Amino acid sequence: MNTDAATTRAWIQPAYGGPEVLEQRTIDPPAPGKGEVLVRVRATALNSADAKILRGKPGVLRLGFGLRRPRNPVRGMDVAGTIVAVGEGVDESHLGDEVVGEISGGGGGLATHTVTRFDRVVPRPAEIDAVTAAAVPLAGGTAWQALRLAGVGAGSRVLVIGASGGVGTYTVQLAARSGAEVWALCGERNRALVERLGATRTFDYRTNGPESLPEGTFDAVIDIAGKAPLRVVQHLVREGGCVVMVGGEGDGPFGPIGRMLHALFRSIGSKRRFRPFAARATASVTSTLLEMVARGELAPVIERTFTFDEARDALAHVDAGHTVGKVVVRVED
Ligand SMILES: NC(=O)c1ccc[n+]([C@@H]2O[C@H](COP(=O)([O-])OP(=O)(O)OC[C@H]3O[C@@H](n4cnc5c(N)ncnc54)[C@H](OP(=O)(O)O)[C@@H]3O)[C@@H](O)[C@H]2O)c1
Repeated sequence: MNTDAATTRAWIQPAYGGPEVLEQRTIDPPAPGKGEVLVRVRATALNSADAKILRGKPGVLRLGFGLRRPRNPVRGMDVAGTIVAVGEGVDESHLGDEVVGEISGGGGGLATHTVTRFDRVVPRPAEIDAVTAAAVPLAGGTAWQALRLAGVGAGSRVLVIGASGGVGTYTVQLAARSGAEVWALCGERNRALVERLGATRTFDYRTNGPESLPEGTFDAVIDIAGKAPLRVVQHLVREGGCVVMVGGEGDGPFGPIGRMLHALFRSIGSKRRFRPFAARATASVTSTLLEMVARGELAPVIERTFTFDEARDALAHVDAGHTVGKVVVRVED
């Protein structure tokens, strides 16, 4: 089988740590197993999850990704590229397909070639370039699923906390497009951007945080930043409303788990409920979002692109926590 991957280069993470642990190496080409495909990577978008796995923090994530070092040492979950080999059970007619998706295995995109389950990728519409397409799956899918869980739609008033990052820029656009009235908290420098994306009212989280907003104002709060006191966030929603808990680092080895348990406790007997939330990679949602992008109904916000050789700097930028929209590595340049 010609895998077209004789010289696979990859950014390897041999241990948990900061971006300085990353090393670029030439590795054996990965081989697609049953139900898998080998993708020649064109572009890989980074997410804050990549930075968390890089550092192995919070410690609880090491239970899933490897106790002493990451089992999969290559970061990068959102990939656009070309299928160059197929494993058992995948039809050879897919060779040469341009695809995009949140790949299986918890990473692999910061490499010239990567393997993923075939059912995790979808065709890339011809109107969308690889960099733009790669920016869609994880952050866009998270926004889509969080808004569905909250029941946001025409006539809702929703508050997005953390509106300027990867997930936030999609959440604001999708909520506004659904007909909801969107209020948003972001840094002062990003207020104009977030208003262009569809927010009718924006507030600088550093000077006018959630505690300055009127109680009982929202049908739903999508809390992506996850830093405001639970008591404050809970009282922002009206009776019958909910707070979807998307993000937040939390303290200590258990990360956000303590905050989530506390939130569930606060929900008992309350008419203002917290909804802990974990997005699931869903190819059909990626397809839907890509179609919206192709029709001009959704515009991925891409703050910066980096070359493959600059991938360490790209991860350092995401790790710093001040990304505006998405960061994408142009692997094929
Ligand atoms: N539950 C799930 O399934 C799921 C899925 C995806 C992501 N997440 C989580 O969601 C969180 C956000 O992810 P992301 O990829 O969107 O992150 P990101 O792109 O790194 O978000 C960075 C943005 O957040 C803004 N920000 C930081 N603190 C803020 C605060 N207190 N209030 C308002 N805005 C704030 C920053 O603005 P400034 O630069 O002005 O500070 C920056 O623009 C992370 O904790 C991530 O792990 C969860």
